[in-house]
Amino acid sequence: MKVLVVGAGGREHALVWKIAQSPLVKAIYAAPGNAGIEEFAECVNISVDQIEELRQFALDQKIDLTVVGPELPLVRGIVDQFEAAGLKIFGPSRGAAKLEGSKAFAKQLMSEVGVPTAAFQIFDNVNEAKRFIIDREPPFVIKADGLAGGKGVLIARSCEEGVQVVNQMIQNRLFGDSGKLVVIEEHFTGDELSILLFTDGEHILPLASSQDHKRAFDDDQGPNTGGMGAYSPCPFISERELDDIVDRTARPVVQELKRRDIPYRGLLYVGLMMTRSGPQVLEYNVRFGDPEAEAILPRLKTDIVPILFEIAGGKLKTLALEWDPRPCISVVMASRGYPGTYQSGYEIRGLDQIKSRDVVVFHAGTTREPSKMVTTSGGRVLAVSALGDSFQKARDLAYRTVESISFEGAFYRRDIARRVLEKTGVR
Ligand code: AMP
Ligand code: GLY
Repeated sequence: MKVLVVGAGGREHALVWKIAQSPLVKAIYAAPGNAGIEEFAECVNISVDQIEELRQFALDQKIDLTVVGPELPLVRGIVDQFEAAGLKIFGPSRGAAKLEGSKAFAKQLMSEVGVPTAAFQIFDNVNEAKRFIIDREPPFVIKADGLAGGKGVLIARSCEEGVQVVNQMIQNRLFGDSGKLVVIEEHFTGDELSILLFTDGEHILPLASSQDHKRAFDDDQGPNTGGMGAYSPCPFISERELDDIVDRTARPVVQELKRRDIPYRGLLYVGLMMTRSGPQVLEYNVRFGDPEAEAILPRLKTDIVPILFEIAGGKLKTLALEWDPRPCISVVMASRGYPGTYQSGYEIRGLDQIKSRDVVVFHAGTTREPSKMVTTSGGRVLAVSALGDSFQKARDLAYRTVESISFEGAFYRRDIARRVLEKTGVR
């Protein structure tokens, strides 16, 4: 089988790494890929939003299965276009991808089918949004409706700040057209949890639980990022609780989309907050989380390719997944300045010194120079994943490895999975 993976980040490296382990796979291509992905795949210089070029490439190369990493091409309809050309592709159609592409759509759907989520209102008129804010108690969670590269959610701690945010989003188009509609919702506190599941629109197969660390700095300080590190599994959640969360937060939405004739096929990511009133859905994503994928996939023992292929074909037949019981911790090394502006092009040292079989260094933003030197080329540069017999051992190994890698301006959080040790005493 020939497989094409669309994307260039740590998530796509993890997918390519896992797909390469399948005996069913003869060749892997990645568009556009990165310096780490190159080890397993032929990288082709087509970006993720060049859907027509990607389709032509898949036709020319007779690709048997395309796997889409990021949300942008999904929301723009890559699956519909590939399928119209008779190509097999893993991911939801444009209609189903609205779950991530429009927060207003997702919130309305959740409230229709009774999924627990923050109380909300949708606005396209800046004055109405302001009136709403002035009448209420802060904090407010204000979300741009459309895609905003992980930056579209702002938390306003006062009415003045709230008014400023809606002005910037609706009036000044801070996020372009993505913010012409905003969702204002109730603010929750609690631990976040990511539940990922495979579905063909009917059958649901949950993956192991995980937790991301969204803020840039230790102790959840600083701005929101795409994610600075993750671990799997989440030891606060038993398997029974996980099934119960899936039944309450994912199944009704999957069923409703099928009823509306826009079946959801692919990977569904449910972003939750565990509040005092139970699990509440913060968002749906229509693809693997990044860096959740880098903490989950090293634990997956089952061959992923048949699952992706079955779902792309319309029917998920795999009934269970086998997991490495050991926890995995993934620490992101980022460029100074991320998630704001940062410099690129710095040499990364230490990558070839890594010996442990329980470590995988996934590349998120790297480039191989003609001289063969690997340099930084993104905000998130690497995701260093380590397995261990305990959370403590996995953490020690992940951080020892991080410390052995260096590049100019590297920074990382030092507290990934620390709360697991503190809160549960799990070692
Ligand atoms: P989203 O893209 O909707 O997941 O939002 C990004 C981040 O904003 C989440 O991971 C949370 O950390 C935070 N967030 C979103 N919605 C809420 C909420 N209702 N209450 C508190 N924090 C939230
Ligand atoms: N880690 C959060 C995301 O993938 O959106």
